[in-house]
Amino acid sequence: MSFRIQPTPVARPNRCQLFGPGSRPAIFEKMATSAADVINLDLEDSVAPDDKAEARKNVIQAIGDIDWGNKHLSVRINGLDTPYWYQDVVELLENASERLDQIMIPKAGCAADIYAVDALVTAVERAKGRTKQIGFEVIIESAAGIAHVEEIAAASPRMQAMSLGAADFAASMGMATTGIGGTQENYYMHREGEKYWSDPWHWAQAAIVAACRTHGVLPVDGPFGDFSDDEGFRAQARRSATLGMVGKWAIHPKQVALANEVFTPSDEAVAEAKEILAAMEKAKAEGAGATVYKGRLVDIASIKQAEVIVKQAEMIAKI
Ligand code: COA
Ligand code: MG
Repeated sequence: MSFRIQPTPVARPNRCQLFGPGSRPAIFEKMATSAADVINLDLEDSVAPDDKAEARKNVIQAIGDIDWGNKHLSVRINGLDTPYWYQDVVELLENASERLDQIMIPKAGCAADIYAVDALVTAVERAKGRTKQIGFEVIIESAAGIAHVEEIAAASPRMQAMSLGAADFAASMGMATTGIGGTQENYYMHREGEKYWSDPWHWAQAAIVAACRTHGVLPVDGPFGDFSDDEGFRAQARRSATLGMVGKWAIHPKQVALANEVFTPSDEAVAEAKEILAAMEKAKAEGAGATVYKGRLVDIASIKQAEVIVKQAEMIAKI
């Protein structure tokens, strides 16, 4: 480890973030009783411009009225390039109950975006005497966002999570696709008449994970648009989990169970991690820093890898 210590992100499960438009209050109760760890009530792109004011009212009322259980409750505000965002912040923080946990800032492009929202949030919190400090999560979904991903992750002590928003990201990058996440038909290698699909989202995900892990923020995979394609969702989520992301959005309730399944370490994975830890304990007692487990090398780094899985499973078991 460098002399610079890697901060630990907030210890809460974030396997699935279920979204719902703020203009559709009929689904709020269903969101509250879902199995998602995080609820994102949306004021941004799933709400038409004429419905913004009504959506704000719906969301403020629902934050106080609905029993959200132990879910992490987040509201996605509008982007800083719109005329809506300041009213989203002011009205939410002046009127919503202290049950609100977090604000999601979309289309973050630089640290100053987060700084601006932080200044406004801090002022309203002080003016209203709010005792619970609101957390922030952001979406990286533009060329500027990915170019400045590390400064964004470090932009505020309120920062808790960061998601990749595949649709806006693809548009901003000029990517030749209308798909939201997953395999893209034309992103393939070719050899001897066979196509081999590669993952166009991989580098952005890895950049987000690195920025998040450097600054103690939870890295999250965003939406998978084709909610009829369970196997496609699973494959995307498994790649994200393998890269270090802790969860994924659900844009339809049927995706919640899929995300929970992938981002909950399996019993087999936990058992194996515990066996590796036991093997390393034994090696240590014998004065060795490395040993053999099921025919493969395990060493001191393996302890840290195994602990990631065991700690994640322990945190989820506490829910
Ligand atoms: N959360 C909780 N419940 C939801 C829901 C959601 N996001 N979306 C739909 N439901 C409910 C429906 O009310 C319906 O309930 P019922 O069986 O009691 O009638 C059930 O789930 C099945 O819904 P379905 O008919 O398949 O979907 P729909 O046509 O009503 O809605 C979407 C489909 C995609 C429009 C809707 O899921 C949605 O708005 N998703 C979120 C979009 C969003 O927030 N985008 C921003 C982030 S990218
Ligand atoms: Mg978006």
